[in-house]
Amino acid sequence: MEDRHASLSSFFLLALLSFILSYSCSTAYSNTALVAPISYDPSTSLYSVSPLGGPPFDRPLLLNLDSSNLWRDCMHPLLRSPPLEPVLYDSAICKSAKVQSALISGDPGYISGCSGAPTPVCSNFSCSVYASASLRTSPSAVLWTDTISLLSINGSDPGKLIRVPKFAFACSDDILLNSDAAIPANAVGAAGLSRALLALPKQLAAKLRMPRRFAYCLPLSVVAGRGALFFGQTSYIFPPGGDLCNRFQYTPLLNNPQEPDSYFIGVESIFVNKVKLPINASLLQLREDPNIIFNNKMGIVGGTSISSTLRYTRLESSIYDALASEFSSSAAAMGIQAVGAAGAFETCFNTSTVAVGKGGFGLPVIAFSLQGSNGPIWEITNDNTVDFVGKFICLAFQRADQFQPRSIVLGTYQQQDCLLQFDLDASKFGVVPNLSSSWSRCTNFRFGSTA
Ligand SMILES: *[C@@H]1O[C@H](CO)[C@@H](O)[C@H](O)[C@H]1NC(C)=O
Ligand SMILES: *[C@@H]1O[C@H](CO)[C@@H](O)[C@H](O)[C@H]1NC(C)=O
Ligand SMILES: *[C@@H]1O[C@H](CO)[C@@H](O)[C@H](O)[C@H]1NC(C)=O
Ligand SMILES: *[C@@H]1O[C@H](CO)[C@@H](O)[C@H](O)[C@H]1NC(C)=O
Ligand SMILES: *[C@@H]1O[C@H](CO)[C@@H](O)[C@H](O)[C@H]1NC(C)=O
Repeated sequence: MEDRHASLSSFFLLALLSFILSYSCSTAYSNTALVAPISYDPSTSLYSVSPLGGPPFDRPLLLNLDSSNLWRDCMHPLLRSPPLEPVLYDSAICKSAKVQSALISGDPGYISGCSGAPTPVCSNFSCSVYASASLRTSPSAVLWTDTISLLSINGSDPGKLIRVPKFAFACSDDILLNSDAAIPANAVGAAGLSRALLALPKQLAAKLRMPRRFAYCLPLSVVAGRGALFFGQTSYIFPPGGDLCNRFQYTPLLNNPQEPDSYFIGVESIFVNKVKLPINASLLQLREDPNIIFNNKMGIVGGTSISSTLRYTRLESSIYDALASEFSSSAAAMGIQAVGAAGAFETCFNTSTVAVGKGGFGLPVIAFSLQGSNGPIWEITNDNTVDFVGKFICLAFQRADQFQPRSIVLGTYQQQDCLLQFDLDASKFGVVPNLSSSWSRCTNFRFGSTA
């Protein structure tokens, strides 16, 4: 036991050292970069992003890492924006609309059989694509192009609106809007952030010659204000702290050939108060499962994916047990009284037995160690470790059901007040796990009077 602690603390020290030595931050911001505000919707626990500029991009959209395009409802009311240009089935844009994400996998289709005059949701010979909301997908959205405008950012200050002509997006009917909790209350569609060619990161980068990179900072649900979504190469300034660009812990983005549009990272181990959980290591790898057949091949299961729509991180059953058991015994050693299950959680505690100090609640600390030569660590803050159910304080993680192919899906609750960067050119993922360590929050980003 003693040994394990000793090697672990030198591991943490080494990680910290190499982290300080790898201090390097590009200061050249001559390229275009963009920023958009993110809001939390308490009624669905989803986040929305608001592009700016006129119709059809004037309404909030679900922030969705699993969506392969930007789509919106064009039916209610019928969209009559400045002339949308159709994307025909046999065009290059349509050919680039293939998707392979956690929600859906497939090729674009061909629209025919529309009665009456063409509308934004039915137009003969057009390209039909999938529109994905949280957990649901509709196969019959119609692809169009129009000019989208987004706020530019130069250094710390949002600047003028940048117009992006011929931006490809999809018009859908209201099926997804009417399904339960599929999108945030005031949203009309989704902003797709997957690795697909027509999703925002790659399409905007191609149009504006930006690096294929985006980052987001989700506001804490209990704090009023807006977080931020960035595209391109930019500084990340959340006052009163300075630029966060050199505080990222980086880990490779992993490729799952059956789901190349999704974001996977390698979690190597999980610690509670620096004690390593006994987890079957093969669960943490992406691996072929002979019992699951997918497109005539063995299905790829396991591993860790990142979600922007799942609320609480879901862990494969034995991983959940290992976490809950170590967390509970650490908590017991701190005098915290277990009370069993409450609400949506299995592992809860008597709030009045939790000590409150200067840094918030005195709780066991959960940390994910990630793949990477610098030994990156994602330490979960207290705010993101527990949630409240009535008088109880609960471990804010959930047990995955047997149908979830991933061993870990990182939910948005654990991402609050962290800055997450997805660098598609370098195939790496960066996280600044704790903005509050520089006395900041995601809501401190200054949009100024423009947004
Ligand atoms: C950003 O600001 C710097 C200094 O004010 C300026 O030299 C540069 O041209 C600006 N870049 C853009 C893209 O506006
Ligand atoms: C669309 O195609 C169908 C046949 O598939 C045809 O009956 C209909 O008139 C066409 N609509 C328009 C607006 O061209
Ligand atoms: C670890 O998990 C793999 C994949 O589920 C399984 O095949 C293997 O039997 C497990 N090993 C142990 C020791 O439980
Ligand atoms: C919670 O702890 C307080 C203080 O120790 C105690 O008075 C109370 O009865 C406990 N509540 C439950 C539900 O156990
Ligand atoms: C985050 O930063 C705050 C402020 O420095 C600190 O009190 C807290 O312990 C940190 N939490 C984690 C998990 O690092």
